[in-house]
Amino acid sequence: MTHTMNTICMIAAAGENNALAKDGDLPWHLPDDFKRFKKLTSGHAIIMGRKTFDGFDKPLPNRKHIIITRDKKYTTDFEGCTVVHSLEDALEMVKDDSLSFIIGGGEIYKQGQEFANKIELTRIHNSFEGADTFFPEIDLSNWELVTEEFHPEDNRHAFSFTYLTYARS
Ligand SMILES: NC(=O)c1ccc[n+]([C@@H]2O[C@H](COP(=O)([O-])OP(=O)(O)OC[C@H]3O[C@@H](n4cnc5c(N)ncnc54)[C@H](OP(=O)(O)O)[C@@H]3O)[C@@H](O)[C@H]2O)c1
Repeated sequence: MTHTMNTICMIAAAGENNALAKDGDLPWHLPDDFKRFKKLTSGHAIIMGRKTFDGFDKPLPNRKHIIITRDKKYTTDFEGCTVVHSLEDALEMVKDDSLSFIIGGGEIYKQGQEFANKIELTRIHNSFEGADTFFPEIDLSNWELVTEEFHPEDNRHAFSFTYLTYARS
């Protein structure tokens, strides 16, 4: 009998100081990173905190959205979006999926660390002062860096960055 484990991947972009956001928005614009996020997550469930979802104009196409809130009255009319009241309930919804993503924000990454077995982190090579939301420090006794790919600064990207893929060790 083969045992297939489902992959729970936290995907994030963070500065050298772990900055994730400022005033509800990303303090950078990196189209190639967006493209990669879309490519990796399309067709899969994406789990997120209510604040991250509220920051979207509309849901991202071709992805099942699972929104976590403590607010029992919170609803959304958007199709393909489900509201749950704990991270455990979100993970229960994806238990039969081979690959799912935790897409933030800071509060959800912090709680998601213990359940995830993969991290796709885009490390942006700049410290973003004044950020108000942070990615948790990765504990390298639990995580192993498996691949890294550098992307230089260019006329579409104001900062260089590195795609870091970690697997639970
Ligand atoms: N750079 C990146 O890769 C990245 C990725 C995603 C998001 N972001 C940024 O991160 C910011 C949002 O992050 P954030 O940390 O402020 O908020 P968040 O993690 O997106 O959402 C927090 C909310 O999730 C709900 N929640 C958290 N833990 C819960 C639990 N255990 N049970 C039930 N509900 C729970 C609560 O919603 P209620 O208040 O409704 O109860 C809480 O207020 C935004 O600025 C966004 O742009 C950046």
